[in-house]
Amino acid sequence: MVRVLIVYASDHGSTEKMAKALADGVKSVEDSIAELVKADDARIEHLLSCDALVIGTPVHMGSIDWRVKKFIDTVCSGAWMQDKLIGKVGAVFASGSGYGNGGGGCELAMLSVLNNIAELGLLIVPLPKKTPGYKVAGLQWGPYGRAHAEDLSPKGLSDDQLVSSKHHGMHIARVANILKDAQIFE
Ligand SMILES: Cc1cc2nc3c(=O)[nH]c(=O)nc-3n(C[C@H](O)[C@H](O)[C@H](O)COP(=O)(O)O)c2cc1C
Repeated sequence: MVRVLIVYASDHGSTEKMAKALADGVKSVEDSIAELVKADDARIEHLLSCDALVIGTPVHMGSIDWRVKKFIDTVCSGAWMQDKLIGKVGAVFASGSGYGNGGGGCELAMLSVLNNIAELGLLIVPLPKKTPGYKVAGLQWGPYGRAHAEDLSPKGLSDDQLVSSKHHGMHIARVANILKDAQIFE
């Protein structure tokens, strides 16, 4: 059984919707369970017991949410000090309003978290372009959501924007199953 830990922050529900769709994808894979934890509540014990860590963030001022950064700096850093996450699986997702198009900072936010994930020694699962839902809500780094309309009025995420998140969860669970107990790094 692999445990996929999904840590996220969300004020208005869009990032949480993506987190839940991703968890559905994880649960659809045999021998896989998903654990959803808000960034404020995530503790080192969650990290130690997971096989895969997925971090989701809303875009705030063009970059990542401060609660997600706090989780990385205060919780993940403890695991980094002890080399506890090396060789586990890692992945990201993000939700923006779409200000400025291109996801309004989703790409930069995901890259920023991927940098942290690489520093932790996690093996990164990307989002290949043939993934279902990619055209609507995919970047190679992970799924993204655009929660506002063209006129920038808030509309939330439609179901078609959640397809790539679900498939990201499936990919992550499959990779975690293959890598479970593998000793890759010395
Ligand atoms: C303080 C703040 C700053 C934001 N900055 C951006 C931004 O730079 N680019 C963008 O596209 N959306 C921005 N947004 C909109 C959110 O990223 C978007 O609504 C997101 O889907 C919210 O996720 P949530 O529903 O999980 O809270 C901002 C929202 C807040 C509250």
